Amino acid sequence: MTTTEQLYVSKHPLVKHKLTLLRDKTIDHRTFRELVRELTLLLTYEATMDVATKAHQVETPMGTATGVEVEETIGLVPVMRAGMGMVDGIMELLPSVQVWHIGLYRDEETLRPVEYYNKLPDEATVQICMVLDPMLATGGSAIATINILKKWGAIRIKYIGLLAAPEGVKALSEAHPDVPIHIAELDEHLNDIGFIVPGLGDAGDRMYGT
Ligand code: PRP
Repeated sequence: MTTTEQLYVSKHPLVKHKLTLLRDKTIDHRTFRELVRELTLLLTYEATMDVATKAHQVETPMGTATGVEVEETIGLVPVMRAGMGMVDGIMELLPSVQVWHIGLYRDEETLRPVEYYNKLPDEATVQICMVLDPMLATGGSAIATINILKKWGAIRIKYIGLLAAPEGVKALSEAHPDVPIHIAELDEHLNDIGFIVPGLGDAGDRMYGT
């Protein structure tokens, strides 16, 4: 991983390989979803390096082994729609996570996020929230989601995405300096309609064939 204070860009060869396949405009929706699932699994492995554990003993066929179990409760917060494609990969790795959906879309004129779905319970129910959204463009959607989670009472929040523009990383870092940003690649820039370049297009559309 390339590490700045808050930004973690994966350096893993499998991540780079799969991301390159994902960018290819000729792949079909099914392949796109499968690659998103695999990339999320790999990024989650890197993003959970600091999760707290406690000692846990098990009986093996040969004796007693002292190992560990994950101590912290983890919640996934996929940002609809595109973030939903990242949930399955993580649930393979962490089957007992809670999943709380947040619905936001980006107004095409203003590029500002508009909230349309939020069923969070009254109080925070997990110790770590992982916000899932493949694309960090202007950063508006990620900032709005994290604002919602902090108001809810979430304390430890991590952002997991696939691609980010420098503009989005800057905005998110300034708004939420305590939130680590885990991505597969930092791209060049945003174009004049707010798309990441070279990017991969609209992740939600490519995932769901719209
Ligand atoms: C895309 C993407 C992010 C957001 C990023 O979603 O999945 O949620 O835009 O842009 P931002 O950083 O400038 O806020 P979109 O609004 O296209 O909705 P969708 O996932 O339903 O396609």
